[in-house]
Amino acid sequence: MPGPEDYDAGPFVPVGADLQGLRDAAAGCRGCPLFREATRTVFGSGEASARVVLVGEQPGDQEDRKGEPFVGPAGGVLTRALAEAGIDPAEAYVTNAVKHFKFERQERGKRRIHKAPTLHEISACRPWLASELRLIGPEVVVALGATAGKSLLGSSFRVTQQRGVPLVLPPDGDGEAGGTLVATIHPSAVLRADAAARAGAYAGLIADLGVAARLLDDGSR
Ligand code: URA
Repeated sequence: MPGPEDYDAGPFVPVGADLQGLRDAAAGCRGCPLFREATRTVFGSGEASARVVLVGEQPGDQEDRKGEPFVGPAGGVLTRALAEAGIDPAEAYVTNAVKHFKFERQERGKRRIHKAPTLHEISACRPWLASELRLIGPEVVVALGATAGKSLLGSSFRVTQQRGVPLVLPPDGDGEAGGTLVATIHPSAVLRADAAARAGAYAGLIADLGVAARLLDDGSR
């Protein structure tokens, strides 16, 4: 395996594939070393006709076991927040910036503890996300947390400074139209917040998703 600066999923991304073709090819991705420890690639879920794409960080323990994004505790928070913000889950495609679970084993291997992906791993995986976005062409992209924001807007992205306002999503390398992006906190930040901060964190997540919901409403008028 080459060094971290050479990690790249690009050679594994089939040209001209539809979403199912991308998903099938991503199952065999060896673009960075994360495939070695993870159970499987967790690709995005939803329809190519989705109007909004929600981008998380990476699959967690349960997502890695089940093969679907956001089916664990963070997914529960996200599902409730989407409903409260007025975003129809049927109009949403859910995916991650990084498609393999990165973790550390603790308690003599029994527990798998999430580890944040590096910038090299985020950028290695970007060709999959770029392909998903190119095929779907959503009206709005929602970055859930710092990793998604860095993948989509670059390493200087700061969720605390850039959340909750419509941002310009730059065109990808192929010159495709960018679109509009709204950033917010990752749903797991709500779960990690202490009791005093949790309600505020959840309200903030809903408020930011509400910005995306209003953009979608404006787009359907
Ligand atoms: N956290 C993420 O960022 N994505 C998932 O799919 C699950 C948890």
